[in-house]
Amino acid sequence: MNVLIVGNGGREHALAWKIAQSPQAEKVFVAPGNAGTALDAENVDIPASDTKRLIAFAKENEVGLTLVGPEAPLVAGLVDAMQEAGLRVFGPSQAAAELEGSKVFCKNLLRHADVPSADYRVFRDTESAIHYLTERDDGPAVVKADGLAAGKGVIVCRDRAEALEAVERIAGQKEFGDAGDQLVIEERLVGQEASVLAITDGRTLVTLPAAQDHKPAYDGDKGPNTGGMGAYCPTPLVSEKFLEKVEATVLVPTLHAMKRSRRPFRGVLYAGLMLTKQGHKVLEYNARFGDPECQPLLMRLKSDLLVLLNAAVDGKLDEIEPLEWDPRPAVCVVMASEGYPNEYETGFSIRGLGDAAALPDVKVFHAGTASVDGTIVTTGGRVLGVTAMGDTLAQAKLQAYKAVKCIRWTGAWCRKDISDKAIGL
Ligand code: AMP
Ligand code: GLY
Repeated sequence: MNVLIVGNGGREHALAWKIAQSPQAEKVFVAPGNAGTALDAENVDIPASDTKRLIAFAKENEVGLTLVGPEAPLVAGLVDAMQEAGLRVFGPSQAAAELEGSKVFCKNLLRHADVPSADYRVFRDTESAIHYLTERDDGPAVVKADGLAAGKGVIVCRDRAEALEAVERIAGQKEFGDAGDQLVIEERLVGQEASVLAITDGRTLVTLPAAQDHKPAYDGDKGPNTGGMGAYCPTPLVSEKFLEKVEATVLVPTLHAMKRSRRPFRGVLYAGLMLTKQGHKVLEYNARFGDPECQPLLMRLKSDLLVLLNAAVDGKLDEIEPLEWDPRPAVCVVMASEGYPNEYETGFSIRGLGDAAALPDVKVFHAGTASVDGTIVTTGGRVLGVTAMGDTLAQAKLQAYKAVKCIRWTGAWCRKDISDKAIGL
């Protein structure tokens, strides 16, 4: 079967690398891909936003399964358009992807489904939000733009002054455009975060081992929020038993509520959890694989991912064998451009990729890279996801950083403490 993967990040490289290993995969295409996906699959020069050309390409090249990586094309309705064109595609419909595309929709659904989450209020204009913040106690709050904002539309505030400023940025100055047409103001939760992802065909859930992302830019969770500076899996924060509890109290009721609201969810259901003293609560839902969580997850997956995704598309997840995982943990360290998540320069040539790849149990997933005249150069903020496995989490971390040390470009940096929150647990 020919497979088309839509997207160009580290997640898509991991998906392409894993799917290319399936005996059922013939050609694996990535649109538009990066320098890494070009090594493990075949790049197609079509952006994720160009629905017409993606459909035409899939038809011309007898693509048997399309896999949509990022949230923007999901929320824009790529899955629906492809299905209408008679193509098989893995991912939620536009209506179901609202779970990620609208925080207001998500919060209301969680409330109806009785899924634990932070208390919240929705506002449609700046005045009522300001009024609410002025009336309530002066304390921490989280202000969120309703729509997609590339992970930047969530502002965690220490006090009323910061929250008022956040309201002004989102709803007043419209820093995130239309995404700020509605606002959610919610209680600030405190605890460790974990990512629990499940593959679903709308009826059956296949829950993957829990992972932990590192969203803030700098060591010790300092600095601005990013797309994710590293992840490891499994995380000892979520035991097998606890994972079952998350399934029963979070994933299953969400799936039922989506069905009841006539938006059956098929694809990857990704719950971002906060593990608070009062128990686990959902921070957000994503409608796709996490990036970078996907990289360490797929590095450990021994089963055939294509078989799993095909079963999900066919509504036959109840028929598949339990997934097999490498018992060794995996750690992914993101190497980024100087300045990220703010402005950064690109076009620097990357050295040492071969040395890193030669290390045992290491895979360097590309994100913001391109090949220019035979040289691999930086093109994005998050450039590489250097991923390694080890007998223990500490050994996986050591191996990942050994590989990081091999790689150089002007301004390259990374967090030095990926997976440390698990140590001593
Ligand atoms: P989201 O894009 O909704 O995942 O939010 C990005 C990050 O903001 C999360 O990973 C959390 O670190 C933080 N966050 C979101 N909601 C809350 C909340 N209610 N309390 C504390 N932190 C939050
Ligand atoms: N790693 C966070 C995300 O994919 O949204």
